[in-house]
Amino acid sequence: MSQKEPAGVSEAAIAVHWQEEAYYHPSTEFIAQANMTDKSIYERFSLDNFPECWKEYADLLDWDQYWHTTLDTSTAPEYKWFVGGKLNASYNCVDRHLGEHKNKAALIYVPEPEDEPHLAITYQELYVRVNEMAALLHDFAGVKAGDRVTIHMPMVPELPVTMLACARLGAIHSVVFGGFSGKACGERISDSGSKVLVTMDAYYRSGRLLEHKSKADEAVKVAANEGVTAEKVLIWQRYPGKYSSDTPPVEGRDFIVNDVIKQYHGQRVEPVSVPAEAPLFLMYTSGTTGRPKGVQHGTGGYLAYTTATSKFVQDIHPNDVYWCMADIGWITGHSYIVYGPLALAATSVIFEGVPTYPDAGRPWRIAEQLDVNIFHTAPTTVRMLRKAGPDEPAKYNYHFKHMTTVGEPIEPEVWKWYYHVVGKGEAAIVDTYWQTETGGFVFTTMPALQGMKPGSAGPAMVGIHPVIYDEDGNEIAAGSGIAGNLCIRNPWPGMLQTIWGDSQRFVSTYFAKYNKNPNSTDWRDWPYFPGDAAVQAADGYFRILGRVDDVINVAGHRLGTKEIESACLLVKEVAEAAVVPVNDEVKGKVPDIYVSLKPGYDASDSIKKAVMQAIDDNIGKIARPAHVYIVSDMPKTRSGKIMRRVLSAISNGTDVGDVTTLANPQVVDEVRGLVQG
Ligand code: WTA
Repeated sequence: MSQKEPAGVSEAAIAVHWQEEAYYHPSTEFIAQANMTDKSIYERFSLDNFPECWKEYADLLDWDQYWHTTLDTSTAPEYKWFVGGKLNASYNCVDRHLGEHKNKAALIYVPEPEDEPHLAITYQELYVRVNEMAALLHDFAGVKAGDRVTIHMPMVPELPVTMLACARLGAIHSVVFGGFSGKACGERISDSGSKVLVTMDAYYRSGRLLEHKSKADEAVKVAANEGVTAEKVLIWQRYPGKYSSDTPPVEGRDFIVNDVIKQYHGQRVEPVSVPAEAPLFLMYTSGTTGRPKGVQHGTGGYLAYTTATSKFVQDIHPNDVYWCMADIGWITGHSYIVYGPLALAATSVIFEGVPTYPDAGRPWRIAEQLDVNIFHTAPTTVRMLRKAGPDEPAKYNYHFKHMTTVGEPIEPEVWKWYYHVVGKGEAAIVDTYWQTETGGFVFTTMPALQGMKPGSAGPAMVGIHPVIYDEDGNEIAAGSGIAGNLCIRNPWPGMLQTIWGDSQRFVSTYFAKYNKNPNSTDWRDWPYFPGDAAVQAADGYFRILGRVDDVINVAGHRLGTKEIESACLLVKEVAEAAVVPVNDEVKGKVPDIYVSLKPGYDASDSIKKAVMQAIDDNIGKIARPAHVYIVSDMPKTRSGKIMRRVLSAISNGTDVGDVTTLANPQVVDEVRGLVQG
């Protein structure tokens, strides 16, 4: 991974100043009921037992044909897991539970408007719906095994139904977060070569019914410009039987699923038995270059990994009511709303809206009403709820046995509020570190086996063997107080298979930095580098310090600075753009944008507005900057590189360091004056 101009303060400096926190311990009640209480699992998953240890994970699934080879490294680092095996993901998440759990809720949908009733969908009902949608996708839209289907939908049960219907056919779904723009969706249709787009007419957010279908029109246009034709657009209705968009369906291309599906009433589709390594889905994520990359996950390895981690780390039992308040459009929702919990026959709650609407008591009312006992969310949401309603949780009668945080570092202060106030001091907390690419948790405490340490993700997950390297590949010892680049020495079944259509980018992004022999087929030569800095305490716990590349984690969502910069450059007056992360009390980080203009243009509010609009249109509102600053010139090195580090220091009000070697040191004062007044 390229290591240029890490934005923000030196990670090593942060580590040195960090204070150690005391441990918290799970209750004896929690331990008594926990799925994983056997410490010897770490020995069973030692490197000596690699890779055969992973059989324990694979055996949580039903295989149509059992596999013969645990791990094939012949095309390392593109690995194949459970080779020879065949299975179907929708069978594993739905059909196999019908015997014992047919009448139990698989999903409970909570619409945002509080006067709309909850909708519980039993495993039997899910089975019926997934089959009918699979029949429609196959017979009406021509989808077959290996085809890609792009899904651009909000948080409604029709989303997992559509995903599972794809999986049933052996088709590869590519879900695009509903908040992304039509253009962003179109680029993903184009990259994946999807011939079908599934969308929805509208959805609720913060009390408003937002029109969504027009994004499909834009998406199809963008994909067509890139040479990919989405032949059919399938539109679910937010209110079945009623079309809630003012953008009409396009004749011959757009079809209302709720109408067409009537033709498939009662139809059953045999689940297609696919090889373990057949791709299950693509999930696009931001990286160092402009265009997001399609992270490709395989069926057997991914499903085994998410099922096992849901069982051992989330502690999901079939009787639990589990609520992960993430969006299915991100990896957290794929692994820990849909695949993991459903593979375990849990009840998984799907919430349409925002957690603070109509007030910050909403999540706790839902928890009380549904008797949720496992709760999963991101630090950003915890910070938001703590700010907006610090006393709300105490007003509601719910009891969590277990809570998760995911996606960002959590400050010890915020962790303690989560523990004492949200968890009422009763719940075990896991701080789970992982990525789109890792498929499931790779660092976390095992809740019944290890104490919790606020602000620390804990040791590596079972079977994950980590190391921290310095820039030159020397190992940094635990307890040294020095930060470095976090790596994982070994492959694991949940890891991405490759980047869709771009093996080279896969190798260069995650492995090139520490691989010494590009021809090696020995996994030991291919440490995986996720792109984060970390420091390991003497007790073996890891504190994740954040990205070392050009990625900003805004409210737990990964955004590439290059993507945002490219959007700014679409504004005709803009000559150069630089995006830097600014610390934010609630969202963790937010982007600040610096632009310089082409000759002949003067700074104006309308240019700032145009920049904001370009970001909304090209990426989506989630990437909106805190500020847009128009500067006369960017601070640059003598070779002409924009010094983002300097801009970031100015935005954050920290020391800019030595700027005397810049080509234009005088602009630093000018920019500082503009930003800090
Ligand atoms: C960050 C989200 C600190 C990290 C599941 C990673 C975290 C990126 C944690 C992946 C955590 C994730 N503590 N930082 N517990 N979990 N991150 O792909 O920088 O959306 O590389 O996956 O989020 O974001 P992604």
